Amino acid sequence: MNLSVQIAPKHKPGLLLTNPVMTAAGTFGYGTEYSPLLDIQKLGAIVCKGTTLEPEEGNPQPRLAETASGLLNSIGLQNIGVKALIKEMAPLWANWAVPVIVNIAGETVSDYARLAEELDGVAGISGLEVNISCPNVESGDAEFGANPESAARVTTAVKSATSLPVLVKLTPNTSDITGVAVAVAEAGADAISLINAVKGMAIDATTRRPLLGHVTGGLSGPAIKPVALAMVYEVAGVVELPVIGCGGITTGSDAIEFILAGASAVQVGTAIFNNPHAPLDVLEEIQQFMQKEGIQDIAELIGIARR
Ligand SMILES: Cc1cc2nc3c(=O)[nH]c(=O)nc-3n(C[C@H](O)[C@H](O)[C@H](O)COP(=O)(O)O)c2cc1C
Repeated sequence: MNLSVQIAPKHKPGLLLTNPVMTAAGTFGYGTEYSPLLDIQKLGAIVCKGTTLEPEEGNPQPRLAETASGLLNSIGLQNIGVKALIKEMAPLWANWAVPVIVNIAGETVSDYARLAEELDGVAGISGLEVNISCPNVESGDAEFGANPESAARVTTAVKSATSLPVLVKLTPNTSDITGVAVAVAEAGADAISLINAVKGMAIDATTRRPLLGHVTGGLSGPAIKPVALAMVYEVAGVVELPVIGCGGITTGSDAIEFILAGASAVQVGTAIFNNPHAPLDVLEEIQQFMQKEGIQDIAELIGIARR
């Protein structure tokens, strides 16, 4: 049975995963935290927490609230910063079989370009995932990924600053997901991942105040799966690039839905908080499905629901 997928076919030498199951940024730390709990080397790829130029403490507490079938988080970009990542994490990753993709985040286009430059050529880093769900401080704080022009500007800047494969991760918080996807593809992205968390909030009726310290946060988990699936389906219909599906994936059958919608690979996020083994359970369930259905190659399933 062939589970391997090439997620950067336009790139030389590309980014070949042994299987399509990845972890989603911000839900699996730097990988090291989970290595006592599961065999992380069996994963298709690990995407690490969003990384910024300087270390960040993230947003004020409280930063998590459970919702019906979902999780609201306003962690923000709490991370160790790119220099510590290169010094402390990349040397560990360089000895791993599983590819590690670094998720990057900035406040300006030049932040993204500088991050890409710093990470270029660092042993242990197999690719970049560009988080364009960040507010653009130079133009009124709208998310970079909210419109095609700013999404394309970030993509072009990152691509010209690195020789690594570049995945661009789309935000669902836009009225033009296909316009953004096409713009990012034209700007040179090697793959598109989607979706990031959906903007949401909760209010504490007793205190009469927003529950999260940051007021709004990102909704993730099973509650957003149908939204993510529809966006993956739409985006896979307008770009030639590999699409990586993410949003509420908890079981193998969730993952198969995304693959049938056109995803070449999937990311498991919030499910990990309930079950740290979730990504490998998802992988095993994909294999069982393929066996049961007599599918020899995962490629036979990609985008089938579109025909
Ligand atoms: C606690 C938490 C932290 C996250 N941090 C990041 C991040 O740093 N960068 C990013 O691109 N996405 C981040 N995300 C979004 C996830 O990677 C994913 O896109 C989203 O949660 C939807 O997938 P899920 O429903 O499987 O969690 C975070 C999500 C959660 C729940």
